[in-house]
Amino acid sequence: MSSSIAQKVVGEMSQNLGLGIRNEFPIFKNGGVAYLDSAASSLKPRCVTERISHYLAFEHANIHRGAYKLSAEATENYEATRAKVAKFIGASEDRSIIFTKNSTEAINLVAFSYGEKLQRGDKILLTVLEHHSNIVPWQLLAERRGIKLEFAAINPDASLNVADFKEKLLAHRPKLVSFTAISNAFGSVLPVAELIDAAKKVGAKVLLDASQLVMHRALRVEEFGADFVAFTGHKMYGPTGVGVLYGKPDLLSDMGPYQGGGDMIERVAVEGSTWAEIPRRFEAGTPPIAEVIALGSAIDFINRIGLGQIGQHESSMLQYGFAKLKAESGVTVYGPINSGGEQSSILSFNVEGVHPHDLSTIVDSVGVQIRAGHHCAMPAMKALGLPWTARASVGIYTAESDFDALIEGIKKAKRMMNR
Ligand code: ALA
Repeated sequence: MSSSIAQKVVGEMSQNLGLGIRNEFPIFKNGGVAYLDSAASSLKPRCVTERISHYLAFEHANIHRGAYKLSAEATENYEATRAKVAKFIGASEDRSIIFTKNSTEAINLVAFSYGEKLQRGDKILLTVLEHHSNIVPWQLLAERRGIKLEFAAINPDASLNVADFKEKLLAHRPKLVSFTAISNAFGSVLPVAELIDAAKKVGAKVLLDASQLVMHRALRVEEFGADFVAFTGHKMYGPTGVGVLYGKPDLLSDMGPYQGGGDMIERVAVEGSTWAEIPRRFEAGTPPIAEVIALGSAIDFINRIGLGQIGQHESSMLQYGFAKLKAESGVTVYGPINSGGEQSSILSFNVEGVHPHDLSTIVDSVGVQIRAGHHCAMPAMKALGLPWTARASVGIYTAESDFDALIEGIKKAKRMMNR
């Protein structure tokens, strides 16, 4: 599809997100899908599937290496996505964008390479809300370097206890603070600007995990003032296998490599090697070229519709889903939404007498996909006294009928469990 036709189609569809935009997603052609698991991974629009397949079929060559046209064009397209990502998140320098495998790898990169700068006894402040990918890399670093981790507490409604966060900043004066913008387990929205501001006042560097934010709301990294930001392509309508680390260029330039190999060096001799400048220092080996290029198409797709409109649609879907779940007997919904607090795109809930894994299987039998379990956020679950929850999450293609189908599935589960 040419980009002007794609633009027109998406322009028309954007008047009608939810069911209307589904023509752009091949999976809906099969029918019967009420996909409420976008927080785990979004579905893929045709412009992304076609871009990746066209690249692999007709455009592929390795990048940064070949002195021939195919390689030069692949390099150009790969680097064009870097520029697109920078613009999308408000970064003024393309070299501040490092392509990784996913958010997890982006955070591990910082924990490894920036972590080398920390000293025994230094502290890192995290929050109890974090996904395991923003806890375990720091635990590995803590063991390796004798660093101490502190955790800001959460409130009973799964919002961050901001007072505790600020108290811990003052009490521990951490060298680094790392937190999520939006909880993947409960959808709680953290006051990012306020938290970064507070962390800066005690001289801490900040890593923001934007994995659950970047496809829903505008991310302006330089306005926020975060030192590092991590997110992943597959939750923002792009392919799996590509993630992004944004880092302030002066910090990245001062950090040693995360992995060694081809492409990340300036010079290699048997006596030792020197490193390439950023961003290549952090992109060892052949990168996910096709995935990066298709991520560029996913960003074009989001831009054509506009994050303003996407956010509005998703928020009305969230409110609809919340009202339906609240009205259903035996259902408890968690999160700040209960008390009018800020919650984005995710509804975590339990149905009395039905294990979420059973619920997930039963609602799948009526065509509804949700996630069940601890959502890789075991400390948050423990803090709230919950072993697990079921989780419904929304995207650009979510429609009221998805939640209607979920409620039918919940009723079926309750009947099957003899309630
Ligand atoms: N982090 C993803 C989720 O929350 C996989 O489901």
